[in-house]
Amino acid sequence: MDNNHRPDSMERITTQQQAVSFIDEQVQAIQKQVGDRKVLLALSGGVDSSVVAALLIKAIGKQLVCVHVNHGLLRKGEPEQVIKVFRDEMNANLIYVDAADRFLDLLAGVSDPEQKRHIIGEEFIKVFAEEAAKQEGIAFLAQGTIYPDILESEQGIKAHHNVGGLPEELNFELVEPVKLLYKDEVRVVGEALGLPAGMVYRQPFPGPGLGVRCPGAITRDRLEAVRESDAILREEFEKNGLAGKVWQYFTVVPDFKSTGVKNGKRTFDWPCIIRAINTTDVMEVTVEHLPDELIDHLVQRILAEVPGINRVLYDFTPKPPATVEYE
Ligand code: XMP
Repeated sequence: MDNNHRPDSMERITTQQQAVSFIDEQVQAIQKQVGDRKVLLALSGGVDSSVVAALLIKAIGKQLVCVHVNHGLLRKGEPEQVIKVFRDEMNANLIYVDAADRFLDLLAGVSDPEQKRHIIGEEFIKVFAEEAAKQEGIAFLAQGTIYPDILESEQGIKAHHNVGGLPEELNFELVEPVKLLYKDEVRVVGEALGLPAGMVYRQPFPGPGLGVRCPGAITRDRLEAVRESDAILREEFEKNGLAGKVWQYFTVVPDFKSTGVKNGKRTFDWPCIIRAINTTDVMEVTVEHLPDELIDHLVQRILAEVPGINRVLYDFTPKPPATVEYE
């Protein structure tokens, strides 16, 4: 039943009409799979899980229980925004869980990227299991897995937390209605479902969040530097009309320090790397070149406002050979 292979005959969804027939098919498939039971959804607030939420709301309404877990690796202001959009505006059945300390304590001292991903993925499942136990009759776990996640996991490039078997003892079956779609198709489907454009065209954000942008062992101070510099970057992209144009942009604060000087005194602080890329299907990406004045302004703001940073670097590497994220 769980076919992870996209049939060669499946057309790329580019039009409203194709999206509508995909939605009709999926609504029926979900209703058939779920029956009158309940589904727990990992609602991160990203495009994929938002589209899955909208599909499920259409298919099964209040049988969907959305859970937004704050794993401490979210962007600045993000949990607040998810609550506002889904609970207040979309009237969804939303549970908010603040599990930041729990995740960060488990991740302390762990530097291997795959191990970090697995810890985050496993802890996610535990949190969901706990939430499920508080609910009557949850039988399914819905996820916003998309096709590139499946391909790259199969090829062993990286283990995405949202792909792979759940422990046997959890009686959850998966509901993954967009798992055969590429990112651009998910957006077309989201639009056809009537989601706001701001949500459908929001830049993607990985499940392990800022954790993969804080390479090596995560510390709270370096994580804060990633979060603050990311907020500055997003604010400046918004102000300069780049937010809807550039596909993905973020900062990374690697785990090494270099010498600098501030107010006549030696500093020994981290660099902050800016990455801004464009793509349609995330298999290949190109680098966005920013105007010099914007770069200068970003450098100035990050150095002035983010504690622990004494250099700002720009990543000019396409994919391949580099992946989008650093881990
Ligand atoms: P990479 O780094 O694989 O990124 O070139 C491709 C796209 O996938 C996102 N990404 C992830 N998304 N869980 C996710 O849900 C992950 O572990 C993960 N790793 C990368 C990345 O942000 C980019 O958009």
